[in-house]
Amino acid sequence: MKEFWDERYSSEEYIYGKEANSFLKQELKKLEKGKILFPCEGEGRNSVFASKIGWISYGFDQSHIAKQKAENLAKENNVEIDYKVGNVEEIEYPENYFDAIAYIYSHFPSENKKNYFKKLNSYLKINGYVIFECFSKKHLEYNSKNPSVGGPRDLDLLFSIDEIKEYFDNFNFIYLNEEEIELKEGNFHNGIGMVIRFVGKKMF
Ligand SMILES: C[S@@+](CC[C@H](N)C(=O)[O-])C[C@H]1O[C@@H](n2cnc3c(N)ncnc32)[C@H](O)[C@@H]1O
Repeated sequence: MKEFWDERYSSEEYIYGKEANSFLKQELKKLEKGKILFPCEGEGRNSVFASKIGWISYGFDQSHIAKQKAENLAKENNVEIDYKVGNVEEIEYPENYFDAIAYIYSHFPSENKKNYFKKLNSYLKINGYVIFECFSKKHLEYNSKNPSVGGPRDLDLLFSIDEIKEYFDNFNFIYLNEEEIELKEGNFHNGIGMVIRFVGKKMF
């Protein structure tokens, strides 16, 4: 998969654009600023946005090309981001360190989902927040009709509401909904898709 993403990111264009995800923008503005982690951060659009509005942004991704593009985007915007290259299994941060974690299109195989979210959520402080937007299992119908909307073609990588309740069972659910949205994110997320949006507060 690392090769797949390096190849995808190897063009000059920012494949999901330079604008942050709109749900992230809407929700992040409601929270008190602090340190935020962006797992699977790609080309940096979301961490750069967070830094621009006063958060201290951290991110990681398995793709070193993504990191390079993210750092260029940060420079272009005169902000800093702390970006590591590695996969979820290799990455380490201190426990109870972040005030928020934003999972924006972080899709994992089902055999890893539970452990990966458990590991990453351990880096979040108690009373810290998760902001989450990923494609739902129903999205397969959408991307088979319109490939431009993007997203995994594999049901296993997609999410259901029940999965979110299971992986985030130590969270208070502030918002949890499966919804049809229009995506206009670069050339790779374009059109109507079905996503799960979730905001939660870590209780223990
Ligand atoms: C659809 S892109 C989303 C990028 C970014 N979050 C955004 O919204 O612009 C998915 C990203 O997840 C990364 N990724 C997938 N699985 C990963 C893993 N196990 N560890 C680290 N990165 C991963 C890929 O390299 C890719 O950059």
